Amino acid sequence: MVRVGIDRIAFYTSNQFVALKDVAEHNQIDPDKFALGIWQENMAVASVDEDAVTLAANAAETIFADGSIARQVDQLLFATESGVDQSKAGGVYIRRLLGLNQNCRVVELKQACYSATAGLQMALAQIRANPSLRILLIASDIARYGLGTPGEATQGCGAVAMLLTANPSILAIDEVAGLHSDDVMDFWRPNYSDTALVDGKYSTKVYLNTLKACIADYQARGGELEFQHLCYHLPFSRMAEKAHKTFCRESGNRYQVEAFEQNIAAGLIYNRTIGNSYTASLYIALASLLDNQEVEANARIGLFSFGSGCMGELMSATVVAGYRDALYSKAHHQMLSERTQMTYADYEAAFTYGYVVDGSEQVLPKQTTGAYRLAKIDQHQRHYEPTNC
Ligand code: HMG
Repeated sequence: MVRVGIDRIAFYTSNQFVALKDVAEHNQIDPDKFALGIWQENMAVASVDEDAVTLAANAAETIFADGSIARQVDQLLFATESGVDQSKAGGVYIRRLLGLNQNCRVVELKQACYSATAGLQMALAQIRANPSLRILLIASDIARYGLGTPGEATQGCGAVAMLLTANPSILAIDEVAGLHSDDVMDFWRPNYSDTALVDGKYSTKVYLNTLKACIADYQARGGELEFQHLCYHLPFSRMAEKAHKTFCRESGNRYQVEAFEQNIAAGLIYNRTIGNSYTASLYIALASLLDNQEVEANARIGLFSFGSGCMGELMSATVVAGYRDALYSKAHHQMLSERTQMTYADYEAAFTYGYVVDGSEQVLPKQTTGAYRLAKIDQHQRHYEPTNC
């Protein structure tokens, strides 16, 4: 059977961040609560001329920028839970910004942090049936809970773009997967709110129970728990430790909790300094693992995707020989090293920036250093453009 999976993977995050020790100091909280309690150091803060659409376009631009990958795809799937319109798919703007062909299917997908995985599986099923297809999947989000809330330290923003093909250069994804869904209210965002509502401690329980159920379903469908590495959805980095303890228990202790440093820790490096990027988070963890650790060819990676509300999926994948040549590790490291640290006051100002909602014109200051930006809002329409125009 034809191997299908990830041929390219690139991520993008805002060029500015706030240190969680500054957030702790402002809120009069012990900074160790964030550093040791949830394993988070910094949090990416979106510029005022940045949204889920521009983050996504900037992630994908990394794949196409050097011209070696043709700007030609059969589908553009856009996964987000912080989309900019109830009707128009963000991917429609992104296709135009990237200069992709117009004879392509574009749609937006939603189920909290899980929807990129739904997009991945839908795309791969089509590629198995028609191996000539090239599908661009982009997951992009800005996580917002509100200033001074318990969720504040678990905000962040980022996007990941993946080119999905047959005979992929990086990761082949297996067909078997373990699934679980339940109708619960652990985290949600009503249409009228620009911040998420969450029952924080309950949400971590739902996450872990969903992982357990996905492991059971994965095994029931014939999946083998034989992984050298695991990547988990990361609302905050320490969630991986909690998840891995559950994984070890559920797999009959065939996995060692002590092996965490060796098999999982490299996947947390980017999250620790970006924060939650909702739909993109699991796949930024995957990029973090591949960029920052020598993973052996043919190593098997377990991937756990979770979206509150809830939906979970456990997948397995095999690393393709020579995968390093297809990575954008250097670009990722450079992007993170060139970010600017904000003061708490600047972060607060960015967080509370007021966007017009009355149809009047609002020209946005140039802040992002990404290739694409939100230039203005006028007559309730968003105007995106290349940053250098
Ligand atoms: P909290 O309730 O304020 O924190 O917020 P806490 O009191 O539970 O403390 C956190 C940990 O830090 C605890 O460790 C403390 O003991 C420790 P644990 O009990 O977990 O082992 N701690 C300290 N450690 C060292 N020194 C100290 C110190 N103080 C405390 N001085 C919470 C934590 C994560 C609940 C909050 O940030 C929150 O509500 N976040 C948003 C929700 C979330 O991230 N949920 C995760 C699962 S749901 C999910 O993943 C889906 C999601 O991505 C959304 C989607 O699907 O769309 C969120």
